[in-house]
Amino acid sequence: MILLDGKKTSAEIKEEIALQVAELVRKDKKKPHLAAVIVGSDGASLTYVNAKVKACERVGFESTLIRLPKETTEEELLNEIEILNVDNDIDGFIVQLPLPDHIDEQKILMAVDPDKDVDGFHPTNVGKMALNLPTFISATPFGILELLERYKIETSGKDVVVIGRSHIVGAPMSILLSQKRTVGNATVTLTHSRTKNLAEVTKKADIIVAAIGIPEFLKADMVKDDVVVIDVGITRIADSSRKNGFRLVGDVAFNEVSEKASYITPVPGGVGPMTIAMLLKNTLLANSRKE
Ligand code: GUN
Repeated sequence: MILLDGKKTSAEIKEEIALQVAELVRKDKKKPHLAAVIVGSDGASLTYVNAKVKACERVGFESTLIRLPKETTEEELLNEIEILNVDNDIDGFIVQLPLPDHIDEQKILMAVDPDKDVDGFHPTNVGKMALNLPTFISATPFGILELLERYKIETSGKDVVVIGRSHIVGAPMSILLSQKRTVGNATVTLTHSRTKNLAEVTKKADIIVAAIGIPEFLKADMVKDDVVVIDVGITRIADSSRKNGFRLVGDVAFNEVSEKASYITPVPGGVGPMTIAMLLKNTLLANSRKE
């Protein structure tokens, strides 16, 4: 079994990005600038956003973190988005999800200028992605494609099973892997909560992408020997033996599945770090598009 090391791979990508930023600076060009908006103070969301901002600093980007109270109204958030849309210094920005219940998430995502939508969540960018046109591919599916490419895992003609149909991961992942692209050309089955006999389906898969949000959902008896497993899940489970009071658990029962797998992503240290690297890549792209 080979670990798909997202931490190491994302560090390599960040080094490549840092070199490109240094080249921009050498040419007296503007550094890429990413802004992140977070509403409320959910612990996990704050951790993720802080990691994104810190990653910007490491590669030499400018970054701006906008923290808004959880009582922020939809209108106030829309105003904030408009300010970022027209600010020429900002190349790209994200609104961290989930948002509080009183805010319509879709309305917010649609307010983001598609040219600054480095999360790739705007319907215009989702549409372009689905048509295999140049666009911002959202960070998690983009990170998975990159990980598969860098580990030279063949996807062409393979049977891929995606578990979970979320707009952020499952749905785009199934579209991308079926497309004619370097990492693609797979026969993809998108499974979800209404899928019958899921284990029968997953047992036939050469590659499984687990993105269902249920800790340790995928067990060893649901996979065949030599399967490639990508674990997108990341759930905090209370653990009093840990200093921070929790541990992170993926959607895959790692200990048992890793014994059958040829390649598998760990949690943490697999898909998670890749998403940050790909967000930086999209921000660099947004910056270069403006040139
Ligand atoms: N919440 C969970 N994943 C993401 C992501 O990729 N982008 C944003 N904005 N929020 C998220």
